[in-house]
Amino acid sequence: DKRNHRHFMKKEIYEQPEVIARALGHYINIEGNSVDTASCIDFASVPSVAISACGTAYLAGLIAKYWFERYARLPVEIDVASEFRYREIPLPPQSAALFISQSGETADTLASLRYCKERGLKTGAVVNTRESTIAREADAVFPILAGPEIGVASTKAFTCQLAVLATLAISAAKARGTVTEDEVKALVGSLAEMPCIMGRVLNSIQPDIELLSRELAKCRDVLYLGRGTSFPLAMEGALKLKEISYIHAEGYAAGELKHGPIALIDENMPVIVIAPHDRFFNKTVSNMEEAAARGGRIILITDEKGAAASKLDTMHTIVLPAVDEIIAPMIFSLPIQLLAYHTAVFMGKDVDQPRNLAKSVTVE
Ligand code: M6R
Repeated sequence: DKRNHRHFMKKEIYEQPEVIARALGHYINIEGNSVDTASCIDFASVPSVAISACGTAYLAGLIAKYWFERYARLPVEIDVASEFRYREIPLPPQSAALFISQSGETADTLASLRYCKERGLKTGAVVNTRESTIAREADAVFPILAGPEIGVASTKAFTCQLAVLATLAISAAKARGTVTEDEVKALVGSLAEMPCIMGRVLNSIQPDIELLSRELAKCRDVLYLGRGTSFPLAMEGALKLKEISYIHAEGYAAGELKHGPIALIDENMPVIVIAPHDRFFNKTVSNMEEAAARGGRIILITDEKGAAASKLDTMHTIVLPAVDEIIAPMIFSLPIQLLAYHTAVFMGKDVDQPRNLAKSVTVE
């Protein structure tokens, strides 16, 4: 049932406030502003965390790496599962390992889980499908509670994975004493506000996005840039666009621009800059100016503070509400998903079932 939407993907994008609220309700106590992710994994004592996943789930893991390192001071080893399983990584057996998978059946992710179990690591599965093989075989299961995701392009599973990973990072930080009680309250308070902010954003950005999609639909290549947690988000934006519109897109760390990709930039190349007004903002803006100076057509996705601070004449600026850093990746996912969706629809592509792709990749 598409609930009056033309495609499952659109329904799933618009469902996010509701499913995120449900997922968060499972892990946080909103009145007490506290987290509860009780499991057999003792984050207080592990020396490091290994994360393995594929595609969009891997990009959620990359964002979580920033959180585990920053808040819980836990080193994170992360790789795509198809590499992780063969790399012979020297993993301390006292470490924890997390496997992120919407379907819970992805062959490489499952193989990585088995690899870690054989080496004695405690394993946790961040999954949507609770009756899946990965959920069954892991020591601990952290359901993301997104409900069935039908569109091949992952949308609500991605933001629910992020929401659950954020609560895990906060509870690890709490257990390790790397954040104060007040900091925990502030982080949980920000997470609790997220569904409402998501609803507001979804209700307001569509006209802007549709306009912009018509421009993107004419392009052959698109570059996405971001720093910090916006870097994995840039890769997710590029993945989403290429997967359903078949436009070639790349996501880069903004600081890498001058180490190669800047050579691609000319007046035919839109550069989508993901830049919330965080501690990286000024640096990202200076990379954006470098791209603009080479004729690149800049599409800036920022917040109210960022829009006020940026002087550059962009081709288009999408302005989101200014939010706390911990929830920015989830809020900034929304324009990225909608941009890919509307571009592909405008081009007449089969959004829910893009060519050559399967929802669940159960072979290596
Ligand atoms: O079911 P999984 O989360 O393990 O799937 C992983 C990837 O195959 C998946 O995220 C894929 O990249 C999506 N089509 C992206 O939108």
